[in-house]
Amino acid sequence: MIELIDDHSFHLHNDKISYVLTVMENGQLGHLYYGKALGSLTTTELDYLRAQASKSAGTVKYSPTTGNFNLADRAQEYPVYGSSDFRRGALDVYADNDPWYLDFSYQSYTITDTKPRSLAQPATYAVGNQEAQELAITLVDQVHQLKLVTYYTIFRAHGVIARRSTLTNLGASSVMIQNMMSAVLELPDDQFEMVNLAGAWLKERHVKYHNLAQGTVAVESLKGASGHQHNPFIALTRSRSLTTGDVYASNLIYSGNFLSQVEVNEWHKPRLMTGISPAYFGWQLAPAATFSTPEALLYYSADGLNGLMAETQAVAQQQIADRQWQRRPRPIVFNNWEATYFNFDETKLLTLAQQAKQLGMECFVVDDGWFGHRDSDRTSLGDWRVDHRKFPHGMGHFAQQIHDLGLQMGLWFEPEMVSPDTPLYRDHPDWVVRHPYPRTAIGRGQYVLDFANPAVVTAIYAQIKPVIEAAQLDFIKWDMNRNITEAYSPYLAAQGLPQTEFFHRYILGVYDLYQRILTDFPDLLIEGCAGGGGRFDLGMLFYSPQMWPSDDSDAVERLSILSGTTLAYPLSAFSNHVSAVPNDQVGRMTPLKMRQNVADFGPLGYELDITKLPAPELAAIKANIDFYQQHRELLVNGHFQQLQSLDPDANTVAWSVANADQSELFVGFYRKLATPNTSVLNYLKLPNVAVNRHYQIDDGPIVSGQILQQFGLREPYQFNGANADTAELRGDFQSQLYHLVAVD
Ligand code: GLA
Repeated sequence: MIELIDDHSFHLHNDKISYVLTVMENGQLGHLYYGKALGSLTTTELDYLRAQASKSAGTVKYSPTTGNFNLADRAQEYPVYGSSDFRRGALDVYADNDPWYLDFSYQSYTITDTKPRSLAQPATYAVGNQEAQELAITLVDQVHQLKLVTYYTIFRAHGVIARRSTLTNLGASSVMIQNMMSAVLELPDDQFEMVNLAGAWLKERHVKYHNLAQGTVAVESLKGASGHQHNPFIALTRSRSLTTGDVYASNLIYSGNFLSQVEVNEWHKPRLMTGISPAYFGWQLAPAATFSTPEALLYYSADGLNGLMAETQAVAQQQIADRQWQRRPRPIVFNNWEATYFNFDETKLLTLAQQAKQLGMECFVVDDGWFGHRDSDRTSLGDWRVDHRKFPHGMGHFAQQIHDLGLQMGLWFEPEMVSPDTPLYRDHPDWVVRHPYPRTAIGRGQYVLDFANPAVVTAIYAQIKPVIEAAQLDFIKWDMNRNITEAYSPYLAAQGLPQTEFFHRYILGVYDLYQRILTDFPDLLIEGCAGGGGRFDLGMLFYSPQMWPSDDSDAVERLSILSGTTLAYPLSAFSNHVSAVPNDQVGRMTPLKMRQNVADFGPLGYELDITKLPAPELAAIKANIDFYQQHRELLVNGHFQQLQSLDPDANTVAWSVANADQSELFVGFYRKLATPNTSVLNYLKLPNVAVNRHYQIDDGPIVSGQILQQFGLREPYQFNGANADTAELRGDFQSQLYHLVAVD
């Protein structure tokens, strides 16, 4: 996978991709190529690639002694600002407020065949020594006494390169890192649109497109979490095509403040960079200390957005999330939040649990409100003792009854927060993120705990651990409901550390708590959540194989959220619940059929008062659960593809999910609003079928994979005003699932 072409040029390649880098004339690392696999390269071919890269249009020479060489339009691996390149660089270092104009020279490289999973920090991993290789290139800036190591991981099976870097201070005094990106990718032309996943609370991760033109397009979060508004994932697509054309994309394995941007220069060359946002960031690097960036992924597919999706989903499932969750079935969850909100006690919950069990559900999750005296969202966070008014015999006793019913037991926590009316807050006012200013913002009646302080993480875990043990929890929903303001850590102040380290140290504290919990309870399923999808990123996915994607449980809105999310994240991460109508977030009335047909894709749950439903609805739920249990493996872990537009405003949505050998697939078709007098003869071309096989469509016809791929699967006939005799679907909120099974 990693080929040394000459003693300082490297070719990372597999069947899908080639990534070529070389040491440039000035000793820095230059980028030569990323894209479709080139096969093995000779030194002559390397010279050819290099020659293409050395025609500079820049006017400022790099140095008086290096001829015409300059960096202005050279594709680089880890560019720095300050010499003949005027674009934003990947690394900014200051000493005593003096900017350093860095100059790194190649020293050496190492290649390793193993990359074990470590809970200490989220990153890609490989199992055994066949799956991946990692190249580490060491560069040194002798003048400034800094050592930079850039790491590249290539996986045997995926169209992706994982990148991260470390910086070590070899000098005698501290320096300040003011910006250190995780990955850079320079491309030879700008004939792309940038795609990102934008939104807000209740409408997260909608697909958006931006034109690339000279200038910068950026998405960023300064909220202390990746955020509802922007996701670290960005992609570059030539044509928006689902099936053809180059697509490049990046994502960051990180959950805090980030910046992902594409800068296009005057010669139409885009530079993509992603990493920790440099705003309000500064890391003091003491002598001999090392700073490590989070890891970032650079994807490539030659096969359009569906090709990209195949890579992002496989990488997340196999190299980032804990692989045990591909083997272990995701439980069908009952969550009481929208069923009861804060208004519950043990008796009510047990009635719900009995009904959940009868319907075939598998895990009972008690959401917010079981602790302290939390009858509203203004109180008790940080007081993780069971509320004896609601659970007179304690949580252990209640959980035992749930387990006795044959259900798994789950509980909601919001570990990073504290309410002002708690002993924790009263005893430790200095454990809160708060500037010494007289004014502090408050959100949802709560403050954020200073997770940059290890003592705070220890104290919170000391409260949570006995609850996990007493209730023998199988499942935790880990929520995070407010963003950070007036970012300031009393702990860092006391340690004499700069406050600009706060945001990164905070998120490392969050990872530390995850590590402690999963080290002690490795089988626990932790569902990530942040006011819905406010922290839906690969950092979280490393620990939480599934996440609550949005507080909007409306089936129509979920179509848009799922379509955007699956561009970057696997279906197995997308926790999907059936809720009541009228929907609590938008007041929409959708049929149960549509709600179930949407929620069946991904880990399934129910979040409504199942003790108050009419018998036909209960029967439909039972039937759907039976169906889901039979096909869960495919519906959670299958290969997901889009069949129509990803536009969140599209009136029809269609997707498919297939198993690995393409012997079985499901197709979901959805129409939001009925449309009169339209053609009913529409076909969905299925990319996920084997062309040499034949498939039976439900109990109907048997047709070849060729036909399904080239001609397509007929969309269900909708009632269009004139076809009452043949219409299969009518009215708003139509949906249809198709099951296709290979018969040869
Ligand atoms: C957040 C979550 C919801 C629910 C509530 C409880 O909004 O996203 O699913 O858990 O908190 O307060």
